[in-house]
Amino acid sequence: MPISDEWSFPEGVTYLNHGSFGPSPRCVREARQAWTEKLERQPMDFFLRQMESELDNAAERLGQLIGADGNDLLFCDNATVAMNIVADSVALQPGDEVLFTNQEYGAVMRIWRRACDRTQAKIVVQLLPRPITSAEEQVAALMAGVTERTKLIVVSHITSQTAVIFPVEAICREAAKRGIKVCIDGPHALAMIDINLRKLGCDFYCASGHKWLSAPFGSGFLYVAKRHQQKLSPPVMSWGGSVGGRPAHWQDEFRWLGTRDPAPFLAIPSAIEFLERFGLETFREQTHELAKYARQRIVELTGLEPPIPDSREWYGSMIAMPLPLGDGPPNQGIRDQLQTPLWEKFGIEIPIIHWHGERLIRVSCYLYNTRVQIDRLCNALQSSLEPT
Ligand SMILES: Cc1ncc(COP(=O)(O)O)c(C=O)c1O
Repeated sequence: MPISDEWSFPEGVTYLNHGSFGPSPRCVREARQAWTEKLERQPMDFFLRQMESELDNAAERLGQLIGADGNDLLFCDNATVAMNIVADSVALQPGDEVLFTNQEYGAVMRIWRRACDRTQAKIVVQLLPRPITSAEEQVAALMAGVTERTKLIVVSHITSQTAVIFPVEAICREAAKRGIKVCIDGPHALAMIDINLRKLGCDFYCASGHKWLSAPFGSGFLYVAKRHQQKLSPPVMSWGGSVGGRPAHWQDEFRWLGTRDPAPFLAIPSAIEFLERFGLETFREQTHELAKYARQRIVELTGLEPPIPDSREWYGSMIAMPLPLGDGPPNQGIRDQLQTPLWEKFGIEIPIIHWHGERLIRVSCYLYNTRVQIDRLCNALQSSLEPT
């Protein structure tokens, strides 16, 4: 059976946006359903006697993938919830500074703006050079924003709009030398690239399972370094103890947020097994090769140089390519009008955005995508970009 049979897109749809909303393969959807069935069959037994140890097992399995201890992970709906927990927990004082690159996700900036407004702390945004030439230059540009008031750096592992892999290892090293905490926004990195949180040494790591891991929608996690675990604030106040009567643990406050179905979290190991069965490295190589092909084809079409070097150091399974600016005003963060005809006329789902004066098309390449689909995209782009 071809691997693409694991997905069931409607006829005629070319789905090139796994990076925003990555649907799960059939086997993961079935695993999620099976967990829900278990809960529905005997909820008392499930919640009181099974759920907590099953969540431990799932966290342990996830920890093996990302080089972390399962005891240092919290399951939450998505990276947004994880980031909110961090923003509600880091104790900021008036005048403290939180440092960002200019490529952070819009919702993440809103979360921190609120946290800084509440505490009279300050947001500092550093402009990173584009086109990119070296990791040293990127790190230096970010660290140039550090002052003695910098308490925290919030940085994407892989950026949303520009799809760039940031040198987070070097950022963590530089931050540690200055005693600054680092929170990594990592939903795109999970499964797309290797993550080793023990080696990385960050303070917090936020991620979503529904992107490159292809775990169910509603499955994310927050990693918290041991030194911060007791200071963490739950997003929802509930019982704060073990429902199964186990000894108190820091995760308790975050596990029982009132009654809910934990099936998305419990199906995470099935998503890991799916990718490992296929071969994690094969998955990464294959999807990167397709992204590289998309990059070449779009350059041929537009004649515009990509702003990042052609290397797995800088991009994985997703590439953001510049398009000619056209006549319309470059509205920051606004979806481009071209996205609508691509969908309505050609059945192609792909994001195109305006960002800092660039018009970027972001191509996500997953296991169900093919070169034929990239060719289809380029043909559609060609006819849509041509003056009529
Ligand atoms: C860099 C980045 N951070 C955070 C998020 C938020 O992810 P979610 O909607 O799964 O919470 C996204 C979503 O695309 C993202 O690209």
